[in-house]
Amino acid sequence: MVSYKELGLVNTREMFKRAVAGGYAIPAFNFNNLEQLQAIIKASSEKKSPVILQVSKGARKYANPTLLRYMAQGAVEYAKELGCAHPEIVLHLDHGDSFELCKDCIDLGFSSVMIDGSALPYEENIALSKKVVDYAHQYDVTVEAELGVLAGVEDEVASEVSHYTKPEEVIDFSKRTGCDSLAISIGTSHGAYKFKPEQCTRDPKTGRLVPPPLAFNVLAEIEKQLPGFPIVLHGSSSVPQEEVDIINRFGGKLPDAVGIPEEQLRQASKSAVCKINIDSDSRLAFTAGVRQTLAEHPDYFDPRQYCGEARKRMEAMYAHKIVDVLGSDGKLAQL
Ligand code: G3H
Ligand code: 13P
Ligand code: ZN
Repeated sequence: MVSYKELGLVNTREMFKRAVAGGYAIPAFNFNNLEQLQAIIKASSEKKSPVILQVSKGARKYANPTLLRYMAQGAVEYAKELGCAHPEIVLHLDHGDSFELCKDCIDLGFSSVMIDGSALPYEENIALSKKVVDYAHQYDVTVEAELGVLAGVEDEVASEVSHYTKPEEVIDFSKRTGCDSLAISIGTSHGAYKFKPEQCTRDPKTGRLVPPPLAFNVLAEIEKQLPGFPIVLHGSSSVPQEEVDIINRFGGKLPDAVGIPEEQLRQASKSAVCKINIDSDSRLAFTAGVRQTLAEHPDYFDPRQYCGEARKRMEAMYAHKIVDVLGSDGKLAQL
């Protein structure tokens, strides 16, 4: 058993309390490799922001669970080296799909886990989430649970609406599970294709897709039911069109990729939404950096040359999210 406290990590409890009260959101960035981790820690340390490092089941498989955990431990020391005497870094399991996976992460030093029972029938979601909470809380590890299903790109428009979180269920769900935060569905979805063209309109000037707005009425209703309770938004990449254009210009093919407009994420950050998940935007920045660098420098073959460029683009993106979208800059408890 490794305690996250020994690694210098923190759980989400205090940072969420401050974020909800302060009207901003904590960035939750997924990482799978060294360059992403370096860029996340550099941006969050320089901007003095608390940060959540998210590891998915797929990331654990790709990078090796032990290695990822030591990388997170190293991240705390790196943040100190960068001038953050008291960094607030959470190591979080993203989309845990079983009790065993959550337990394994808790036992290995994670400070927070998500149990995603959102695809299960309501009572089964409650039972599984509660089992994880009961275990996690023995070690002061915080737990995110999910209610409502995020739309997939394959779904019909009608079924997306019916998968929104039902505000009338949130009190019962949060009480009976004892979860520390709740991921909800209000129209965001995972990946770089969040909406089908037929769900969008087109900007006549640019020809770009304009997505439908998030269901802020559902969010407001949830907040009314659970005042001050920490709410999480998954699938919150904006899919910046500059990155998509670079990828397409240098040999990629991402037609009609579309994300959540930043203005709507800014609005959400001011509410009880206190954790915003971003993965796809990092993938896009990385890919744009690699594609452009290799296209412009066919002689390059040292990964540091093109991964270094990719890292720069990711760092700029993370800093932008922190300062211009989520508003978590300067929010460390001890600056
Ligand atoms: O929500 C999913 C995250 O973007 C992680 O994706 O399972 O491909 O690592 P992944
Ligand atoms: P994006 O695909 O929008 O980046 O969402 C990431 C996410 O929700 C991770 O859990
Ligand atoms: Zn997610």
